[in-house]
Amino acid sequence: MNLTEDVLPRTLQHRLENDLILRAARRQPVERTPVWIMRQAGRYLPEYQKVRTHVDFLTLCKTPELASEVTIQPVDRLGVDAAIIFSDILVVPEAMGMNLAVDESKGPFFQSPLRSSADIERLHLPNVESIHGGLRFVPDAISLTKRNLQGRVPVIGFAGSPWTLAVYMIEGQTPATFRASKELIYNRPIDAYRLLEKLSQSVALFLTAQIEAGADLVQIFDTWGGILSPVAFREFSLRFIRDVIQRVRESSKRGDETPIILFAKGVHHSFEEIANSGIDVFSVDWTIDLGHVRASIGSRIALQGNLDPMVLHTSPEVIVAEVEKVLRSFGKGSGHIFNLGHGILPDTPVEHAKLLVDAVKEESRIFHGTGVHS
Ligand code: CP3
Repeated sequence: MNLTEDVLPRTLQHRLENDLILRAARRQPVERTPVWIMRQAGRYLPEYQKVRTHVDFLTLCKTPELASEVTIQPVDRLGVDAAIIFSDILVVPEAMGMNLAVDESKGPFFQSPLRSSADIERLHLPNVESIHGGLRFVPDAISLTKRNLQGRVPVIGFAGSPWTLAVYMIEGQTPATFRASKELIYNRPIDAYRLLEKLSQSVALFLTAQIEAGADLVQIFDTWGGILSPVAFREFSLRFIRDVIQRVRESSKRGDETPIILFAKGVHHSFEEIANSGIDVFSVDWTIDLGHVRASIGSRIALQGNLDPMVLHTSPEVIVAEVEKVLRSFGKGSGHIFNLGHGILPDTPVEHAKLLVDAVKEESRIFHGTGVHS
């Protein structure tokens, strides 16, 4: 199937009914705080579970019609202000030549993790245009989702950071100790740089293809940046994130204009460097007050976050109270996209996720000026 021929023209694609998240990302005025939830398309949703009973995870990622359907489920069910394309960060290493498999209980893993310099040399850049062995299914899913949404909300594309992808490629699966990854950077830094450079190029190509297909924003997930020392984080993670951003910005006009969100956990030591990395929005984990982060870097970039995902396992009263605390902590004015401090947990009650979205929509109006913007 060739979706590129029948996508809507750019001008039509971008007539968004709801552009709150784009305005907040640019720190422009909004009438209320926009909200979406990391990992919002997933196992806590009964309609997602239903699709998964007849299709495996990777087939779902690689079938644009199904990926688009699942992407839109939380928009319909929760009323979130953005759709994030259904996919996974690990499809990039697969398209670079690694063998990705899924264990139904543990999740995706690589059958032959990277061991030697030769393993790193063998990796190739992904073909973002090819259907066979390439990553074409993601831009295709984005084009289709843009068409299916008809401007209801913006679409977010995403990728893992070079460092976070490298961790999975070296460890094979979600690591317990990160021993192999740390051995690589400390014992064989040249190999580490070689791997991270290849990954920067690959991630930049992938994000650019998503932007060209119509993604309105993109998010980089640096899930494992926080396991490094401050110096190692800057040298092995942030440096390559900066490289990705520069490449995306230089790729096209759309690449230059599309807001880039960075999610990184446990990196409070490097807020200054993060604010200067070229991103537009920093997605903050729940272990720090948003007001505190705003006071240090909020005049330069927007912030996203940062409710503890576990709050969604409490009661309606607690959820509303905790939402209010996050809103109050950020305070008045634009530049805040409400989200969790990390992904929603798989066993979260759907009605609690819906309550979170409704509470943000209602409670946030008083933090914004009235009547100026429609
Ligand atoms: O809704 C969305 O946010 C879009 C889809 C999305 C998925 N994975 C789907 C998924 C996104 C943005 C991701 C990102 C991702 N994937 C990250 C970074 C974000 C984070 O939470 O830190 C990471 C580290 C991965 C790798 C990954 N994928 C793991 C470790 C696992 C197993 C554990 C888990 O979270 O389920 C996955 C599987 C996965 N990715 C599922 C989904 C919906 C569950 C698959 C299923 O069983 O149906």
